[in-house]
Amino acid sequence: MAKEITLHFITSADETLTVDAVVGDSVMETAVKNDIDEIVAECGGSLICSTCHVYLEDSTIAILPEADDSELDMLEGVASERKENSRLSCQIIVSEEMEGHTIRTPQDQ
Ligand code: FES
Repeated sequence: MAKEITLHFITSADETLTVDAVVGDSVMETAVKNDIDEIVAECGGSLICSTCHVYLEDSTIAILPEADDSELDMLEGVASERKENSRLSCQIIVSEEMEGHTIRTPQDQ
Protein backbone atom coordinates (compact mmCIF):
# COMPACT_ATOMS: atom_id res chain seq x y z
CA MET A 1 0.00 0.00 0.00
CA ALA A 2 1.18 3.49 -0.78
CA LYS A 3 2.68 5.34 2.14
CA GLU A 4 0.65 8.21 3.51
CA ILE A 5 1.48 11.25 5.59
CA THR A 6 -0.62 13.95 7.21
CA LEU A 7 -0.84 17.42 5.69
CA HIS A 8 -2.76 20.42 6.97
CA PHE A 9 -4.34 22.90 4.59
CA ILE A 10 -5.30 26.31 5.97
CA THR A 11 -7.79 28.21 3.84
CA SER A 12 -7.92 31.96 3.32
CA ALA A 13 -10.70 31.98 5.94
CA ASP A 14 -8.29 30.36 8.45
CA GLU A 15 -10.09 27.04 8.37
CA THR A 16 -7.73 24.09 8.92
CA LEU A 17 -8.36 20.90 6.98
CA THR A 18 -6.23 17.89 7.88
CA VAL A 19 -5.87 15.23 5.21
CA ASP A 20 -4.02 12.02 4.41
CA ALA A 21 -1.61 12.56 1.53
CA VAL A 22 -0.13 9.77 -0.56
CA VAL A 23 3.64 10.00 -0.91
CA GLY A 24 4.39 10.54 -4.60
CA ASP A 25 1.16 12.40 -5.37
CA SER A 26 1.41 16.13 -5.99
CA VAL A 27 0.08 18.52 -3.37
CA MET A 28 -2.46 19.64 -5.99
CA GLU A 29 -3.73 16.06 -6.45
CA THR A 30 -3.94 15.69 -2.69
CA ALA A 31 -6.00 18.88 -2.41
CA VAL A 32 -8.37 17.92 -5.23
CA LYS A 33 -8.90 14.40 -3.82
CA ASN A 34 -9.76 15.92 -0.47
CA ASP A 35 -12.12 18.61 -1.78
CA ILE A 36 -9.97 21.57 -0.84
CA ASP A 37 -12.09 24.12 -2.69
CA GLU A 38 -9.45 26.84 -2.94
CA ILE A 39 -7.33 24.65 -5.22
CA VAL A 40 -8.94 24.76 -8.65
CA ALA A 41 -6.24 23.11 -10.79
CA GLU A 42 -7.95 23.80 -14.11
CA CYS A 43 -5.17 22.29 -16.21
CA GLY A 44 -4.81 19.14 -14.15
CA GLY A 45 -1.14 19.69 -13.43
CA SER A 46 0.16 20.61 -16.89
CA LEU A 47 1.61 23.90 -15.65
CA ILE A 48 -0.55 26.08 -17.88
CA CYS A 49 -3.23 27.48 -15.55
CA SER A 50 -1.75 28.87 -12.28
CA THR A 51 -4.96 27.91 -10.43
CA CYS A 52 -3.18 25.62 -7.97
CA HIS A 53 -1.35 28.47 -6.20
CA VAL A 54 -0.38 27.87 -2.55
CA TYR A 55 1.72 29.51 0.14
CA LEU A 56 4.33 27.30 1.82
CA GLU A 57 6.01 27.53 5.19
CA ASP A 58 9.78 27.94 5.50
CA SER A 59 10.14 24.36 6.75
CA THR A 60 8.57 23.06 3.55
CA ILE A 61 10.50 25.37 1.25
CA ALA A 62 13.71 24.18 2.91
CA ILE A 63 13.23 20.57 1.79
CA LEU A 64 11.93 21.22 -1.73
CA PRO A 65 13.80 21.78 -4.96
CA GLU A 66 13.46 25.39 -6.09
CA ALA A 67 10.78 26.29 -8.62
CA ASP A 68 12.01 25.87 -12.18
CA ASP A 69 11.68 28.57 -14.86
CA SER A 70 8.34 27.27 -16.15
CA GLU A 71 6.81 27.39 -12.69
CA LEU A 72 8.27 30.85 -12.05
CA ASP A 73 6.75 32.08 -15.33
CA MET A 74 3.33 30.72 -14.38
CA LEU A 75 3.56 32.23 -10.89
CA GLU A 76 3.53 35.64 -12.57
CA GLY A 77 -0.10 35.03 -13.49
CA VAL A 78 -1.56 34.04 -10.12
CA ALA A 79 -4.86 35.69 -9.14
CA SER A 80 -4.05 36.31 -5.46
CA GLU A 81 -1.00 38.18 -4.23
CA ARG A 82 2.24 36.46 -5.21
CA LYS A 83 4.52 36.18 -2.19
CA GLU A 84 8.04 34.92 -1.63
CA ASN A 85 6.59 31.62 -0.45
CA SER A 86 4.22 31.22 -3.41
CA ARG A 87 4.40 27.95 -5.32
CA LEU A 88 2.21 25.98 -7.70
CA SER A 89 1.01 22.90 -5.87
CA CYS A 90 0.98 20.68 -8.96
CA GLN A 91 4.77 20.96 -9.00
CA ILE A 92 5.22 19.85 -5.39
CA ILE A 93 5.48 16.13 -4.79
CA VAL A 94 4.43 14.84 -1.39
CA SER A 95 7.35 13.26 0.45
CA GLU A 96 7.74 11.60 3.84
CA GLU A 97 9.71 14.65 5.00
CA MET A 98 6.53 16.72 4.67
CA GLU A 99 4.76 14.84 7.50
CA GLY A 100 2.65 17.30 9.48
CA HIS A 101 3.45 20.29 7.27
CA THR A 102 0.99 23.11 6.66
CA ILE A 103 0.00 24.59 3.30
CA ARG A 104 -2.03 27.77 2.96
CA THR A 105 -4.44 28.32 0.11
CA PRO A 106 -5.24 31.77 -1.32
CA GLN A 107 -8.67 33.30 -1.65
CA ASP A 108 -8.61 33.56 -5.45
CA GLN A 109 -7.22 31.26 -8.12
S1 FES B 1 -2.77 22.68 -11.97
FE1 FES B 1 -2.49 24.07 -13.61
S2 FES B 1 -0.57 24.99 -13.17
FE2 FES B 1 -0.89 23.63 -11.50
